[in-house]
Amino acid sequence: MNPAAPHLHEMTNSHLLFEEFDYYEPATLEEASRLLGSYGGKARLMAGGTHLLPLLKAEREGLRALINLSRIPGLDGIELRDNGRTLAIGGTATIRSILENPLVRQHFNALAEACGTFGSTQIQNMGTIGGNICNGSPAADTVPALLVHNAELVLTGPEGERRLPLGKFLLGPGRTALKAGEILRSVLLPVPAQGTTSLYMKISRVAADLAKASLAVVLTRSGDTIEDCRLAMGSVAPTVLRLYSAEEVLSGATFSPERLAEAGRLAAGQISPIDDIRSTAWYRRQLAGVMVQDGVGLAWERAAHPQPASAVPTADGHHPLPAGARVMAGEREEIALNINGKVHKVWVSGNELLLNVLREKLELTGAKYGCGVGECGACTVEIDGHPVLSCLTLAVSAAGKRIATVEGLQDPVTGALDPLQQAFIDQTGYQCGYCTPGILMTVRSLLAADPHPGEMAVREYLKGNRCRCTGYASIVRSVLSAAKE
Ligand code: FES
Ligand code: FES
Repeated sequence: MNPAAPHLHEMTNSHLLFEEFDYYEPATLEEASRLLGSYGGKARLMAGGTHLLPLLKAEREGLRALINLSRIPGLDGIELRDNGRTLAIGGTATIRSILENPLVRQHFNALAEACGTFGSTQIQNMGTIGGNICNGSPAADTVPALLVHNAELVLTGPEGERRLPLGKFLLGPGRTALKAGEILRSVLLPVPAQGTTSLYMKISRVAADLAKASLAVVLTRSGDTIEDCRLAMGSVAPTVLRLYSAEEVLSGATFSPERLAEAGRLAAGQISPIDDIRSTAWYRRQLAGVMVQDGVGLAWERAAHPQPASAVPTADGHHPLPAGARVMAGEREEIALNINGKVHKVWVSGNELLLNVLREKLELTGAKYGCGVGECGACTVEIDGHPVLSCLTLAVSAAGKRIATVEGLQDPVTGALDPLQQAFIDQTGYQCGYCTPGILMTVRSLLAADPHPGEMAVREYLKGNRCRCTGYASIVRSVLSAAKE
């Protein structure tokens, strides 16, 4: 043992806590915009926190205030407007809510598929479309799909409301056209004409990773002609970009392998990829050509037999709460956490994480600290029926919501184990057991939504949970066995 190493308790704290800030949960976008302006560039917006909180932990952000938009009423809605001609998605709609939405699955296949590849199940439950767009990342999963669906953004700020096509919003890595005090209210998508189909493809190192390259396609087919085709790629240039030259040779042309090859060549020539930890520029160029050919070919086939994206299991439990909470830097507030059906009153600062509060203040040590940045799933708990990462959840933001931890699985009276726990014992679904609470708390919501999932559904749902010793075969076997019971 290294004598200079900090005590585990201190080490955990130093990894999980970041500098203090004023924390707000405004009730309206206008109030949020006013607060944003009042800190003169030293305040940040958050909703899911899956991008910002890891940055804060790495101390790459010096900020004075955090403004959480997630309790603003109505900002997470998804609805048809203009007599069914436009789909409006609120800025704080979570990726999972978009993935599960029947209107999205019926009309915007590429967006549904992009949401399906977005991070882990837990990240999908936390991350929002507004965050994914406003981060300005060239690897953002939803952005290529939104670009080919001709998305328009509704922005609210001190000077009122304005609309901007998504293509004009993206300026460079981490740079957007957002003005000071402006906030994304919603994303507007024109409902495509009959006969139009779309898809999203992504190549990444492992499941739940960012893309080496991604492609979205919208295609309208008429007989043997490609009436219209729109293409956008991610992770191959400073911003997600439309492939206009490839679109031009395809739109209005008779479908043929030669046309596809030409489009692939043009796409590879238009992009400006870089070498980074996920891939090389050379490989991305090869990918671009192949992905365009494959993607357009697949969209062409789909257009002959259009089908909405297949349904995903949906978990219940959205319980919006009134907004208005605030905790100023240096102060503590008493909040009520409803955990496993019991209310716990606890004093917290605005920057305390739910994982710390559970483990260190309430002695509920089932949720584990693994990576601290949203990549291992060991800290998973349920909030309002959805698995989320407690290492990226501010405790104050969970106040009043329904929290479930692994401690709540056992019958409090008889001590009997939940059938899911028993199945893990019977099927040897654990070895050291460190990952097991997170896996149990993730898979519970899958079984609630789909009591008889197939093996692939289990693997897909658990793609954000890492196990370093058992191996996934026995974990999946345990889940399937519990489902059978
Ligand atoms: S500790 Fe939360 S995801 Fe790893
Ligand atoms: S059982 Fe040891 S990490 Fe999964």
